[in-house]
Amino acid sequence: MRMLVTGGAGFIGANFVHQTVADRPDVHVTVLDKLTYAGNRASLDPVADKITFVHGDVADADLGDRLVADTDLVVHFAAESHNDNSLTDPSPFVHTNLIGTFTLLEAVRKHDVRYHHISTDEVYGDLALDDPARFTEATPYNPSSPYSSTKAGSDLLVRAWVRSFGVRATISNCSNNYGPYQHVEKFIPRQITNVLTGIRPKLYGTGTNVRDWIHVDDHNSAVWTIIDKGRLGETYLIGADGETDNRTVVETVLELCGKNKDEFDFVTDRPGHDLRYAIDASRLTTELGWQPRYRDFRSGLEATIDWYRTHEQWWTPQKSITEATYRSHEAVLP
Ligand code: NAD
Ligand code: DAU
Repeated sequence: MRMLVTGGAGFIGANFVHQTVADRPDVHVTVLDKLTYAGNRASLDPVADKITFVHGDVADADLGDRLVADTDLVVHFAAESHNDNSLTDPSPFVHTNLIGTFTLLEAVRKHDVRYHHISTDEVYGDLALDDPARFTEATPYNPSSPYSSTKAGSDLLVRAWVRSFGVRATISNCSNNYGPYQHVEKFIPRQITNVLTGIRPKLYGTGTNVRDWIHVDDHNSAVWTIIDKGRLGETYLIGADGETDNRTVVETVLELCGKNKDEFDFVTDRPGHDLRYAIDASRLTTELGWQPRYRDFRSGLEATIDWYRTHEQWWTPQKSITEATYRSHEAVLP
């Protein structure tokens, strides 16, 4: 099988390519990636001689057409993915998440190629902290940020291409991922690398916001389950019952690094900050029989800290510029 993976030099895409090369020797992977600030060729070093890498933009229609014509399956990870950046400059989010997805959909329509769309639970908006509800596939779309609204728009494009043109597609909406190769702008790697470089971790607002953490390998095994067994035209939510508030995450990182639990700063909150995400993944578990492997967030976090401790050369080049950007708009609260 020939598979085109967009965004394969990013966090989740690179881990997906590693898993695919290890578990699916019958699959040849071609990665299409623009290598934005978030893409890193080095993340593909462990599999470099086993895949084909193409440097390019998913919104480039000619390139997409050529690559899709030569593949059996497209898995579309490429996106602008960071909420904070989308608040500073939404423009690349519209380009990549909307125009990029549209461009790929036109190519898979033309060549009748199976397509899997990677999306986020943020399309559903947020839940109150004391609400027992969780997101399901039936939850109405209600995105809050430029990032999540462009992801919601991309999901709706996929649904329309399925219904109007019979495109053979599935969609997955996953909760917050953690694990190796995640850019240091994101919450968990930012705090780990802060501690490793002597900077105090930074908690937005009051630190009470809740995210539903899942290990990236579990996200990717779920994606493979949907590719293998999912019903065409369907949406599947991916989550692993990992609801944790941000303060607990920071305190656990500090504790696992041998620091006092209170050695962090509260900083300016994110505008429009979503309160809580929570996934009900019953459709995936009951209908397709998927189960997560990492059930203990603390030990997954410990392994992730070890990875950042032993891969400084991977993240050091990104660290100072990322912190300088944060410092330009972030103030420590009294
Ligand atoms: P990331 O920012 O780490 O990686 C994105 C990758 O896409 C990078 O390699 C970048 O170079 C590439 N890219 C960006 N614009 C491109 C373009 N125009 N053409 C080609 N390549 C381009 O993102 P991630 O965290 O790995 O997220 C991957 C996907 O998973 C995204 O679609 C995101 O919305 C979704 N998702 C992420 C999470 C999470 O917790 N990180 C959770 C659910 C869903
Ligand atoms: O839910 C899935 C989404 O999870 C994905 O679609 C996004 O691509 C991914 O970036 C992530 O979005 P979040 O905005 O939830 O992730 P982020 O890592 O930016 O922040 C996680 C939480 O931590 C959020 O409540 C904001 C908070 N935070 C973040 C940073 C960077 C802090 O308190 N301090 C920080 O320094």
